[in-house]
Amino acid sequence: MRLGVYGGSFNPPHLGHVKAAECALSRLALDRLVVVPAGIPPHKALPDGSPGPEDRLEMTRLSFSPLKNTTVSDIELRKNGVSYTVETLEQLQREYPGSDMYLIMGSDMFLTLEQWKDAGRILRLARPAVLVRGAADDAGVAAYASMLREKYGAGCVLVNNDALEVSSSELRELLPRRGGVHMIEDKTYAYIIKKRLYGAKPDFDWLRSRVFDRMLPGRIPHVKGCEAEAVKLARRYGADEDEAREAVILHDITKALTLEDQLQLCRNYDIMTDAVEQAEVKLLHSKTGAAIAREQFGVSDRVSSAICWHTTGREDMTLLEKIIYIADYIEPTREFEGVDDLRRLAYTDLDQALVKGLQMSIDDMKSRGIVPHLRTQAAITWLLEHSPQDKGDKEKI
Ligand SMILES: [Fe+2]
Ligand SMILES: [Fe+2]
Repeated sequence: MRLGVYGGSFNPPHLGHVKAAECALSRLALDRLVVVPAGIPPHKALPDGSPGPEDRLEMTRLSFSPLKNTTVSDIELRKNGVSYTVETLEQLQREYPGSDMYLIMGSDMFLTLEQWKDAGRILRLARPAVLVRGAADDAGVAAYASMLREKYGAGCVLVNNDALEVSSSELRELLPRRGGVHMIEDKTYAYIIKKRLYGAKPDFDWLRSRVFDRMLPGRIPHVKGCEAEAVKLARRYGADEDEAREAVILHDITKALTLEDQLQLCRNYDIMTDAVEQAEVKLLHSKTGAAIAREQFGVSDRVSSAICWHTTGREDMTLLEKIIYIADYIEPTREFEGVDDLRRLAYTDLDQALVKGLQMSIDDMKSRGIVPHLRTQAAITWLLEHSPQDKGDKEKI
């Protein structure tokens, strides 16, 4: 059996790793490839803020899942302390007795091989399979390989790897800046975003496509309109534009679900609802949307709360909550009597626009035989009592 062993920090694993593994599988004609995420690698400590062992294991599993005959092993992650390659190879030899082992590594690592713990033993256990990228790489690697052959009688194999130029350290810098999406296996990227590993923030195109996939096509222009409007309002009132974008892109993510599915989500995520909400999809989707945004897309409490209250409003709304509520109401595809006045008001007095929008929403629901939520009236009362205009009048009295 030809067994490939591919270790690394995989912090995070990226498409360059996957492509390299694919090359190794085919060019070495491997029967099986074992990918081994390192616990604490001896040659480098993991940078601060790196995900824990479980997350690195899961990201590695997700990244390599498209490859056939490939297993991700937790033998190094299960160990406490530093992981040594020699011990990993001995363990794998016990697990796959009689196998012909190839130790797959990049050229940088290969050129330090003699300094690894028990290098001679490593070279007796496995044959180094070095991923090389063209002539410059080849020269140094070939010289080192012939030195190892003379000194240890070790045969090395060069694997021509035309993999992407990606590095994990580059990705760690890109992820918090909403970059890196095209360098990572999609399922892994979704996991990173869900758990906001590395301080990652979602690429907006990726986020839109995730959301639009779950929507009826007719709703997409509305969401696009909301996004444009929310960003304009955020600029006008000094709110965080990126947070506004995350909130509006996600605000109607569960809108296409049936009442039964919405109620199931409420049970799954322990969402508190009252009798009025339980009877009405229109009211439930904002709460289930907030839960999905938090649980599956890792949004902040501020963003989740803006999604949660976008249908009913509530007392003492945050600036972001107000912006999402009004953007949803006045975005360019909306057509109803008075919408142009409301649009103008939204950019001159956000609170007055909210009072008007909330009242119109109550009137509209009543006219359609839907019971408006008491929270909406409470939002109006709160705004009227706390608006600067009102305070000024009270002071005069
Ligand atoms: Fe909505
Ligand atoms: Fe909406």
